[in-house]
Amino acid sequence: MNCDRICFASAAPLGHSLCEVTEFIRLKKESPIQRRQLAPAKALTGEERRRINPNNGLVKLFERNMDVLVSRFLYPHLSAIWNPYTWLIRRRFALAETTVSPTGWPRELPPLRVLLLSDIHCGIFLKPDTLAHIVHSLMKLAPELVVVSGDIVTGHSREVQPFLHALAPLAGARLGAWFCFGNHDYFGGDPDEIRKSLNAIGITTLMNESIRIAHGSSTFVLGGIDDLILGKPDWPRLMSQFGAPHILLAHNPDHFYEAEARGVHLTLSGHTHGGQIRLPKGPPIIRQSRFCLDEGIYIFHSSLLVVSRGLGSIVLPWRWGADPEAVMIEIVAAQ
Ligand SMILES: [Fe+2]
Repeated sequence: MNCDRICFASAAPLGHSLCEVTEFIRLKKESPIQRRQLAPAKALTGEERRRINPNNGLVKLFERNMDVLVSRFLYPHLSAIWNPYTWLIRRRFALAETTVSPTGWPRELPPLRVLLLSDIHCGIFLKPDTLAHIVHSLMKLAPELVVVSGDIVTGHSREVQPFLHALAPLAGARLGAWFCFGNHDYFGGDPDEIRKSLNAIGITTLMNESIRIAHGSSTFVLGGIDDLILGKPDWPRLMSQFGAPHILLAHNPDHFYEAEARGVHLTLSGHTHGGQIRLPKGPPIIRQSRFCLDEGIYIFHSSLLVVSRGLGSIVLPWRWGADPEAVMIEIVAAQ
């Protein structure tokens, strides 16, 4: 891709109403989507640990219940008077890009362009039209495979409904669009409602399962593990049909060491929001990964992990130092 920026809208459709033309002019005036390169993979020692494990224990219990209370009962009342996230995302959303060569990637496979979206958090902080413009712009880059690594809602399963038309173009990717559950997808108590809603627009949920996908003259295996905190990860089931997947969707990056031990060479995650609020050039104020896997690319032994900051926001309709993003990953076989 030669151009270094993508516009939200590129052409005004003919014959539209005054309202639509006004909306088009407004969008044209907005900043184009920024693009940036991800830094090279950070090597892990396997010793990175926090004293507090954010995935369980009293701290997680408190945080989880606060999150549910705020997401389900406070947000809906706040949104009418305070929602700056639409303003922020239209100005600060960026496409992060990288090229990786995972060990074990079949040499006969042609390069594969994967669009990673995570933590969309449909709900009161995000507007369907905003998401629709972002998805439209990203799909113009023609990713061959789209993956959504969990937390598609904030506090209710039904929150995805008004966003289905915005998400539907993702299923137009040549090799399909695939989803795995995150912790927020369980907050409403009925994640299967999300699975059915996404299925209706052509996005398939992988919950402890894998699928073999044909690409060029060969195939690769894509798998999705259930959420680490509120789901029921089942590794034997995930690997029962095709063995270790070439690409694993795992909402929580803290699945990484288990994935590496089981022979997975590329894991795609989200969950951390990159900290969502960070001190300038400093660590996240609230850290969601026990192993400090905050954002970007990591390598342990020969296994790679990509952690996206994600697109949405929770608790506060704001980000600082960890702007919203999608990640375009070009996978090429090692020479
Ligand atoms: Fe999230």
